[in-house]
Order: sequence, then C-alpha cells, then structure tokens
Amino acid sequence: MENTERNTTRTLGRSGIQVSALGFGCWAIGGEWWSADGQPLGWGKVDDEESVRAVRRALDLGVTFFDTADNYGTGHSERLLGRALGKRRDDVVIATKWGNLFDERTRTADGRDDSPAHARRALTASLERLGTDHIDLYQFHINDGDPERAAELRDLCEEFVREGLIRAYGWSTDDAERAAVFAEGPHCTAVQHALNLMQDAPDVVALCEKLNLASVNRSPLAMGLLTGKHMAGRPLEAGDIRSAPPTWLPGFTRGRGADRDWLDRVESLRDVLTSEGRTLTQGALAWLWARSPRTVPIPGFRSVAQAEENAGALEKGPLTAEQMAEVGRILGREAAAR
Ligand SMILES: NC(=O)c1ccc[n+]([C@@H]2O[C@H](COP(=O)([O-])OP(=O)(O)OC[C@H]3O[C@@H](n4cnc5c(N)ncnc54)[C@H](OP(=O)(O)O)[C@@H]3O)[C@@H](O)[C@H]2O)c1
Repeated sequence: MENTERNTTRTLGRSGIQVSALGFGCWAIGGEWWSADGQPLGWGKVDDEESVRAVRRALDLGVTFFDTADNYGTGHSERLLGRALGKRRDDVVIATKWGNLFDERTRTADGRDDSPAHARRALTASLERLGTDHIDLYQFHINDGDPERAAELRDLCEEFVREGLIRAYGWSTDDAERAAVFAEGPHCTAVQHALNLMQDAPDVVALCEKLNLASVNRSPLAMGLLTGKHMAGRPLEAGDIRSAPPTWLPGFTRGRGADRDWLDRVESLRDVLTSEGRTLTQGALAWLWARSPRTVPIPGFRSVAQAEENAGALEKGPLTAEQMAEVGRILGREAAAR
C-alpha cells in the first residue's frame, strides 16, 4: 500500500468517529500503584511534568486518540490526561474504562465490580477526574467478565449514549465470543485487545472486520520488548509490573527482566521492520496497521522522546504486503500475515 496522507487517520469502527491511526495509551503515566498484596501494577516512577509535555507534544504531532482507565495509577492517569489536554479536550477522542475498584488514597487496587450501579458511579467519577462532560469511548475493563452480566451492561451503555454521557462503547477483552455480546448494541464500536508482533489475535481481528468494529490494540510494543532496548536477564525497577509479571504478562520473568527467546525473535525481525528508515518501534506499529484496516494501536509512553518516536510512525504508514509476508515467514505463521 502506498504511504499517503490518508494512512494517518482511521475511523473508530462503525461509530464514524475519526481518530489518528495511532492512539496513546496512558497506563504508564498513571505512576506507581499496587495490588492488595503488594505487587506492582504500574510501570515504576514517572515524572508528571514530563508526562504532560509528552501528551502535548503528541497533540502537536497529530495524535487525537488517548486511552486511559479509571484504575491506572488509581485515578492519577485520568486526572493527568485531563490536565494535559486542558482547552484542547474537544480536539481529541478520549477512551477510558471501568470495572475495577481502587483506593486513590493508598494507591491500591481493591477488587472489581461488574454491577450496573457501579458502572454509573464509575462513569460519574471518570468525568470528574478527566474534567469533561462526556467520554467518547467507554470500555468494560473486565477481560473475562460474565457474558450475561455484560449484556445488561451493554444495554446500560446504550442508556449512557441516550443521556449524552458517552458517544460509543466497547469491551476490553481478548475473547471474541465475549466481544460479540457487546457488539449486539448499536453504539458498540470497538474491542480493545492484545495484539502485537509476538501475540497475534486472529479471532478478535476477524470479528472486528466482520462487524466493522475498531480493533484497539493494547500492548502493541509487547510492553516495551519490541522497542529493542531490553537486555535479557537485566532486572527492572521494583515498582514496575514487568519486574514481577502477573500470568497474563508474557515475555518477562520475575526478577530477570525480558526473556531471551522473545528478544531473539525481535532481533530476527529487525531488518525487515527497519528496512524503510523506520526504527524498530515504528516497524512494530507499522505491522499492526498492515494487519487489518480496523486496527488502532495505542502504545504507552513516558517521555517526550517516546511520544515523538511513536507519533513519527504515523507518516511512515503500514508495512507493505511483501514486508508482511517476510514477517510471517520469519515467525512461521504465513497464514496470519497479509
Ligand atoms: N485493557 C487492558 O486491560 C489493558 C492492558 C494493557 C494495556 N492497556 C492499554 O494499552 C496501552 C499500551 O499498552 P502497554 O502499556 O501494555 O504496552 P506497550 O504499548 O506495548 O509498551 C509501552 C511501554 O514501552 C516503552 N516505550 C514506549 N515507546 C517507546 C519508545 N519509543 N522507545 C522505547 N520505549 C518505549 C515504555 O515503557 P518503558 O519506558 O518503561 O520501557 C512504555 O510504557 C496502555 O497504556 C493502556 O492504555 C490496556
């Protein structure tokens, strides 16, 4: 595909909402927070002023889509994003999520709640923290949530749309069958799920293509592994979730940092991903755009430099069909590489 201007924006599923083809993920900028038993859930210490500068630099570089969640940094990510956007709030599309409980005072997670009453409370609180009167994309954050309960929540989201509190909604889940339950609602427009060069998701991508939903790609850089900067066996700082990864976080081992076999795979892809002047990171994002016309990757960031490199991927566009085929050959999964 020719890399032209039109590759820099995408439509968010069937909502008609236009977004930059790259969103910015705001988990890391929430700062440190912890599970009840002391496990890190953030990405270590962050500098709030640098985060604000990074958000504003992203805006200047054409990024118009930001993904956060109420529990990132136990509310801090939403507050910081609201502050960074300021008067430019109407220039962007804000996605946030609900379903997890937390204590802002102690910065700890506190279980989850999938009740409709909590959804309404959580929405009110997110609006307040973000300093806005509506959320553009509201996402159910419980990956393995109960489908029957989800049907109730889907109908509640339709009510939120009628009330003007949200414009569209989606489920943050890696399970296509669950995503399909939400997709029955007319204003459901996205599935947020893991997708990157190391973790393909053919079922969810196929669902998004069939039902015209956006495939919003979390962990598009495999939590930093695809940037090529990690060294095998080098431990990460204690407040970083990758230093003590939960079971759903592959590629890192407790106390030992990035896994060598993942890093070897990244190295095997370096030539093809960087062949047109892209950095490795930009090549990983370019693969996602070529993977499907529905994808919108949302890489995390914690500095102006990262914001610039990631936003710089936009103008370079998707990988070509030949490059995709080469990636497929290297990874031994020709069928998924288109
Ligand atoms: N729905 C869910 O359950 C869920 C789960 C996970 C993520 N998400 C969303 O998806 C977003 C992105 O996923 P993610 O945060 O898991 O991981 P990711 O985007 O794969 O990796 C982001 C991390 O990579 C590093 N990085 C980013 N750009 C870089 C660059 N240009 N050069 C070097 N390093 C760079 C940064 O961390 P370091 O500098 O510390 O290495 C950054 O925090 C999140 O922010 C969040 O909005 C949602």
